[in-house]
Amino acid sequence: MKKHLFINGVWKEAAEYLVLTSPYTGEAIAEVAQANESETEEAIQAAAAASSQMAKMPAHERAAILDNVTIIMERRKEELVRLLALEAAKPVKTARGEIARTIQTYKFAAMEARRIHGETVPVDAAPGGEGRLAFTMRKPIGVVGAITPFNFPFNLVAHKVGPAIAAGNTVILKPASQTPLSSLVLGEIFEEAGLPAGALNIVPGKGSVVGEKLVRDPRIAAITFTGSPEVGIALKNKAGLKRVTLELGSNSALIIDQTVELTKELIDRCVLGTFSFSGQVCISIQRILVHENSYEEFITKFKAAVDKLVVGDPLDEATDMSAMIAEKEVTRMEQWVSAAVSRGAKVVSGGKAVSSRVFAPTILTDVPSDEPVSCQEVFGPIGTVSSFGTLDEAIREVNNSRYGLQAGIYTNDIHAAMRAAEELEVGGVMINDFPTFRVDNMPYGGLKESGFGREGIKYAVEEMTELKLIVIKLKP
Ligand code: SIN
Repeated sequence: MKKHLFINGVWKEAAEYLVLTSPYTGEAIAEVAQANESETEEAIQAAAAASSQMAKMPAHERAAILDNVTIIMERRKEELVRLLALEAAKPVKTARGEIARTIQTYKFAAMEARRIHGETVPVDAAPGGEGRLAFTMRKPIGVVGAITPFNFPFNLVAHKVGPAIAAGNTVILKPASQTPLSSLVLGEIFEEAGLPAGALNIVPGKGSVVGEKLVRDPRIAAITFTGSPEVGIALKNKAGLKRVTLELGSNSALIIDQTVELTKELIDRCVLGTFSFSGQVCISIQRILVHENSYEEFITKFKAAVDKLVVGDPLDEATDMSAMIAEKEVTRMEQWVSAAVSRGAKVVSGGKAVSSRVFAPTILTDVPSDEPVSCQEVFGPIGTVSSFGTLDEAIREVNNSRYGLQAGIYTNDIHAAMRAAEELEVGGVMINDFPTFRVDNMPYGGLKESGFGREGIKYAVEEMTELKLIVIKLKP
């Protein structure tokens, strides 16, 4: 199967193709176009040329296109689930959840398209502002460059393409090199949904070619990126005056205090939050801090639940966890675990590769907080557990991080909950739930090296529109 570039509404043969392999079997699954600089230039020209048509399109038409996308995805959903399982090794039952969320995200985008609005501004609150009517409008920003990650190749793309189209922009999408098929299929879906040619262009390729050009080109008004801090920071440094939204990951923490019972529901939530999609989720639980009174009980129950996880073929309905996205990530897990163990960490569960592509679900305790497995983003199936004595200690430890995306606390103490809400240095605090909680209309984004700007359709629309002020001086 040969997959071409999608530029200006046409499937275009590229000068170069790369063989895409399944992360689980290593078998070839497609040959995928790799855009070079001149093909990226064509995509930019197409997006720039379609800008004025999109900017003039009425809200109800933009909303109808996005509604059509949800109908088509609903019709094709089982095919999309299998595509996702095949190219990302996301187990089918997890992939089903992602496709359901993606449909929801485009529904939110359709709703948002219908209600983008400004507000009146009481300029007469300032002396000299009398006798005027002032209001704002939200105008499309223009061409949006979307650079997306492998871990949610449908839904994190929807979080960029959905609000961009809702706001009347055009898009150039550079998908992650490991998961281009989930993005390329969107070309077919949006075409059938009625999106004009040029409004969405999909150009798989190298970051150093496609990404670099999108970030530097003055015709691109905004860049929205999800990926590593290293790439995000480099990208921002090159972006000049472009609007930039960065979602850059985390080493998310969960506090469990002494007031809560360690129920099956809580333990299941910890397992899901730590090991879903092999921990390759920005808000995956990486650090669990349990009050010292509950620590031993937690370890026993958590280990028992983790040891029941079914590890295997992503296309098998029984599978909970499958391959990591690349073999080098398994090697990194091995190195990080062995570095921690050499400094006194204990392996409670897993701790080793099951094959060259799969790393076992792993629980570590007694990990020094400056070990990579604690202080860097693991982005793999490893969770650390430690104990604390006071809430102060726990909050200090959670905040002892380069990152600040989301955190969670289980507590029955309203004062502890409110202190966590006030003092945890993160973009979102989940009380009585895991940091992995996300639904697709909530503001999502972080502090520190987790990035800045917010996703969640309404908030992303704000990032992808210009606020324009109109002031009318009224006749006396
Ligand atoms: C992410 O990995 O940043 C996305 C998490 C999610 O959407 O659940």
